[in-house]
Parts: sequence; structure tokens; C-alpha cells
Amino acid sequence: MNGKTFIIENFGCQMNLADTSEVKKALSNNGYIERDDSPDIVILNSCAIRETAEERIYGRLRHYSVLKNKKPFTLVLMGCVAQKEKDNILKVNPSVDLVIGTHQKSRIPEILSDYLLKDQDTRSGTSIEEPAMQVFDRLGDYEFSTSVPSTRYPFKADITIIHGCNKYCSYCIVPYTRGTEMSQKSGEILNNVKDLVSQGVTEIQLLGQNVNSYGQDNNDIPFSELLYKLNETNGLKRIRFLTSHPKDFNSELIDVIQECDKVCKYIHLPLQSASDKVLDKMKREYTYEHYRSIISELKEKIPYIVLSTDILVGFPYESEEDFEKTLEAMKEIRYDSAYMFKYSVRRGTESANYSDLVDDAEKKRRLQLIIDTQHRITKEQNERDLGKTEKVLLESVSRNNPKQLLGKTDGNKPVVVEADKGMIGTYQTVQLDRLKGNTFHGTPL
Ligand code: SAH
Ligand code: SF4
Ligand code: F3S
Repeated sequence: MNGKTFIIENFGCQMNLADTSEVKKALSNNGYIERDDSPDIVILNSCAIRETAEERIYGRLRHYSVLKNKKPFTLVLMGCVAQKEKDNILKVNPSVDLVIGTHQKSRIPEILSDYLLKDQDTRSGTSIEEPAMQVFDRLGDYEFSTSVPSTRYPFKADITIIHGCNKYCSYCIVPYTRGTEMSQKSGEILNNVKDLVSQGVTEIQLLGQNVNSYGQDNNDIPFSELLYKLNETNGLKRIRFLTSHPKDFNSELIDVIQECDKVCKYIHLPLQSASDKVLDKMKREYTYEHYRSIISELKEKIPYIVLSTDILVGFPYESEEDFEKTLEAMKEIRYDSAYMFKYSVRRGTESANYSDLVDDAEKKRRLQLIIDTQHRITKEQNERDLGKTEKVLLESVSRNNPKQLLGKTDGNKPVVVEADKGMIGTYQTVQLDRLKGNTFHGTPL
């Protein structure tokens, strides 16, 4: 037992969250103790997707530099900013001790123990040299870790099935921070899921920047077959997956989603823009018509499908007319929810060299317009669901009332019900009675 204490602050996407859980588990297995109060090690798992995300990380690093001057600890930067900036971090914030890239995360316990040993030598006077900032940024030896039940919701688990991205959309930093696509072996995933179920997990979420590419890099089974096989796991109740790419989303996959009873009828399918000109500049490799045909087929085969998307406005060359196409598409498709962003230049990506930029005030105006439109549609879509009965997994005690529990439908919509704490982790059939904001209130039947 080494007894050193640590915290990890997490930023970014679901994949980062899954990485954070893995690192916590690995550190605990090596005798480290997670503790908020004056920890020996502070780890930031960072996101670089937009400038604001990256700025937030630098802000946190500044905050920790100040604390470090008062009482020393080891400051570790991991994740996408670490991979992107590498030893440039020294210029941004010299108080960072370790910079650990995305492919090196499974080595964190080993890297830390080496570092702490050197640090101890300095303090005890055995060595006069303070260890300099060390950077571990090698891409190429990515190792999948075994997925563990979520600490917060022990009946759920996230599993990264494919890491990295080969798409190189012109605006996106992810292929540079996560490297090329690497799929985990299907046999390992299936065994991992069986093991998770034996530990009490009933809902799994399969993660990847583009899950539809699963198995192509290592000649494994395609994603649709993986879903099919996972659906046969005894004891498993729900399968979710994120994110699908419209280019590789085919009819076969739609049929599998329809046929497999455990696969949630909820699809997150990023559109980004509905203008073919902008989609082409973004290098998304599909047209709006193609995207629309997937949505029509989904709605036709699975009438109660729940849909969400990502929209990116203010991309270079996006005219008012292009933007209106996106706005119209949102009204036509009627997503249940959407993640909406304004374009942020990422150095090193192809679109960083584009001219014909949309000015920031205009980007903001367009963003606000789609947010307002989507809020209205979300409200209407939810109102349409009132009176329905839904299968709800009860996940936690409601923050507003200790006698109520908060759960999620198959479509990932939040529902509050009156129920005892002992019911957490169970599935209930719930009638959706009323809405408070976007949260349903329902009666268990
Ligand atoms: N793999 C997923 C998306 C991952 S990033 C996909 O292909 O859809 C999540 C979202 O962040 C993207 O869908 C996009 O809408 C947004 N995003 C990515 N890069 C961005 C940038 N440079 N500026 C603003 N938003 C961006
Ligand atoms: Fe980024 Fe495009 Fe890959 Fe998604 S598919 S992670 S947007 S490069
Ligand atoms: Fe951010 Fe990296 Fe995820 S840039 S969105 S944490 S893949």
C-alpha cells in the first residue's frame, strides 16, 4: 500500500469519462487512495475540442499552480490537451509535472511511481536535482483496459470499443489527439460484458468516435454483428452506443437495432450542417439527402425512435442561406435533443487555413437561433410523450426531493418517480404524467 492520495478532474466527452474511471481503478489497485482533501496528486483529464474547452483546462492549471506554491503536490495533465500540446505545456504552465498523452494512460501508475521516487530523492536530499516536467506522448501503443462498473451507478458501464478516428473532418482535433482507429477485439468485449453482468451491470454503453467503423482496422466482426452478439448476453438489459457517423450508417444496422430487444431505440447521429456545400468543406463525406434517407428509414422501421444530433454553426463559407438549410432540417427531422456549437478554429486542422470566416457576432446569432428552435422542438417532442408508458432504470435519489428517484427511459430521457432508495438499480414500467422543464414526472405501474 503506497497510501498516496489523488483526485482526477474530468473534462470532455464520454470517452474521457470512461478513461477517468479506468485510471481511478488502476490507481486504486496500486494502493493510491482517492481523496479530495489536500491530495498528493492532482490529475486533469483534458479536452481540446474547442478553444473554450482548452482555455478551461489552462484556467484549472493556473488555479492548481497557485495551490501548489502553498503546499506542493504532483500535477498531472492527461487526455487530449496533453496529447495536442505535448512539451509546449512547459511554456503555458511550468508547474505541470507530468504530461501524459492519450495512448499512455494505462501506464499512469508506473509513470507516477517512477516520478514520485525521484521527487522523494530530491526532498530527502539524496538528489539535488528536482525532476523536470516529463512528457509521455507516444501514439501507437494504445492498450484497451477492462471496463469496470461505474462508481456512481454500479449497474452501468461504459466500454470503449473503438479508439481514435480516421475521418479527419476538416475542423476536428480528435484524430490528432486520439490517433488512428483501433478496435478492441470482439472476444474481449463479449467476455468483459459477461463479467460486468456478473458484477451486477445491466446497462452498457459502447463508445467510439465512430462506432460504425468498428472491426474494420483489425478484420473483426462489423459493428452490427457485435450488437447482435451482445444482445444475447444473459442478464444484460440495455445496450447504448455513441457516436454513429452518417456515412457508415447502413440499413443492416437499422435492422439490427430494430430486431435486438436490448438495444435502446435511441440514436445520436451528428448532422453538423444541412448544406451540402458546408458538409463538403467540413469533409463529412455525405450529403443532406443521404442523411435524410437514414432518418426516414429509422423513423419508418422504428416509429418511436428517439433522435439526437450535433450541430456546428458558423463554419467558414456558411452563408445565411446555408445556415437556414440547417435550421429547416432541424424543423423537419425534429430531434428530441441536440448538442449545438459554434465553430472554433483548432490549430493544425485543415479548416484552420480556410478563409471566408463568419464573424463571431454572427456565429453567436446563428447559435442562439438554433438553440431557441431546438428548445421549442424538444419541448414539443416531450409533450408528445406524455401519457406513454416507458421502461425506466431508476438511477439515483432526486436532488430536489429525497423521497423521489431519478431514472432514464430507453430514449435516455429523465423521469422522476416517488420510490424508495432501495429501488435504485431496478427497471420499472412508468407512466409519464407531467413535465417539469425537460424532466418527466411519472407513476410506476
Ligand atoms: N465523432 C463525433 C463527434 C466528436 S466531437 C462525430 O463525428 O460526430 C463532438 C462534437 O463537437 C462534434 O460533433 C462537433 O459538432 C463539435 N466540434 C468538433 N470540432 C469542433 C470545432 N472545431 N468547433 C466547434 N465544435 C466542434
Ligand atoms: Fe472528429 Fe469527424 Fe472523427 Fe467525429 S468523425 S471525431 S467530428 S474527425
Ligand atoms: Fe474532447 Fe478529446 Fe473527447 S478533444 S471531446 S476529450 S476525444
